[in-house]
Amino acid sequence: MAEQKREQWGSKMGFILAAVGSAVGLGNIWRFPYLLYSNGGGAFLVPYFIAIFTTGIPLLLLEYSIGHKMRGSAPLSYFRMNKKWEWLGWWPSITSFVILTYYTMILSWALNYVYLSFNQAWGEDTNNYFFNDFLKLSTGPFDLGSIQWTILFGITVLWLLNWFICFKGVSKGIERINKVLLPLLIIIILIIVVRGVTLPGAAVGLNKLFTPDWNKVLEPGVWMDAYGQVFYSLSIGMGIMITYSSYLPKKSDLNNSALMTAFANSGFEFLTAIGVFAILGFMAVSQGVPVDEVATQSIGLAFVVFPKVFSLMGGLGSVFAALFFSALVFAGITSCVSLTEAFVAAVKDKTNVSRKKVVTIVSVLGYSISVLYSTGAGLYFLDIVDAFINAYGLIVIGLLECIVVGWFFSTKVLRKHTNSVSIYSIGLWWDVLIRYVTPTVLTIMLAVNIYNEIK
Ligand code: PHE
Repeated sequence: MAEQKREQWGSKMGFILAAVGSAVGLGNIWRFPYLLYSNGGGAFLVPYFIAIFTTGIPLLLLEYSIGHKMRGSAPLSYFRMNKKWEWLGWWPSITSFVILTYYTMILSWALNYVYLSFNQAWGEDTNNYFFNDFLKLSTGPFDLGSIQWTILFGITVLWLLNWFICFKGVSKGIERINKVLLPLLIIIILIIVVRGVTLPGAAVGLNKLFTPDWNKVLEPGVWMDAYGQVFYSLSIGMGIMITYSSYLPKKSDLNNSALMTAFANSGFEFLTAIGVFAILGFMAVSQGVPVDEVATQSIGLAFVVFPKVFSLMGGLGSVFAALFFSALVFAGITSCVSLTEAFVAAVKDKTNVSRKKVVTIVSVLGYSISVLYSTGAGLYFLDIVDAFINAYGLIVIGLLECIVVGWFFSTKVLRKHTNSVSIYSIGLWWDVLIRYVTPTVLTIMLAVNIYNEIK
């Protein structure tokens, strides 16, 4: 493996912002609120926090300590532990690249919707507008339909931006954009939350969101959702956190950074959940239907239900619509950049080719694949790739990480390392979590996923 002088973050705060920027993404805005609501409301907090403490933070710490000690992207870091494990670093890095190709498509939709917000072009039937007029969805993955030029335009803009940020490098590109976009994102979300909770009907939505249903805590599926969300939401198992921590100066408090990243991400999740359900409450009340009928997640929430709510808000609805879709774009760009960096750093460490060249080649390649997603079959491709990666990619990688480090390398070495640079030390409990608890939980999740697939 080639040796290069490693770039560095300008400050520890820059690193934390970048890590939080990666963690805060579409999942915080359109996935968490619905998970909380549908998994027992307030009662979901029990599995959620247990998942954070037994898997989220320990794995985040694991990835931080690997990257920081080995001073490399995922493949180089594993290579430095043992030549045989380099592949374990390539797997998440390549997965990052694959996710990137469709993440840009979703962001392009959001970018288009910022523009469409101004005259609420989606009209009355937002469902029909999104699928038929906007996406021009074809009949299936084998029917490409036609290229949607507005979507392709958005993808082009986003890839250019992404290319530019990564081209500028770690502190001048990635750190800078996070320093701008994250505060902006907080401001936008706060505006949406304040508007949301002052709408008539907000309380109805919030009651629905938080009222605990304790029976749910006994359902295994709810625990799976909690662990899955924590995993996905903290961008674990993607090589990102390993790569980002490899750019930290030698003396950097890793333990504290892991806690801060996890809590900042959770804070975002709760804030958006409040905003989303206040707004859904308003919609339910103004249409005279129960919240259950309008509560949904993901694409349906962002591109079908929310456009309708914004139309119901009257005059300022367009402004809030534009703010909401901008929030999606901003949250997404910082995640895109992290996905790109995980792959770019891996290639750069391997080949010793300059950042600028690698970023450019990776961008051209990624962009070419993204073009496929601007066809009428884009949504189908997304579904196929996403289901595969979520079900197997991240969980399998997390599991292998725990096994390889816990059983074939040494959690003790990594714990000593992270404690030597941190103010507050972590104890033996961490080794126990990484060696026994987390792999057990992940194995169960994997087994259930496989069982559901074949039954
Ligand atoms: N953590 C992001 C979210 O919550 C998703 C993501 C996963 C982004 C992996 C990058 C890498 O939406």
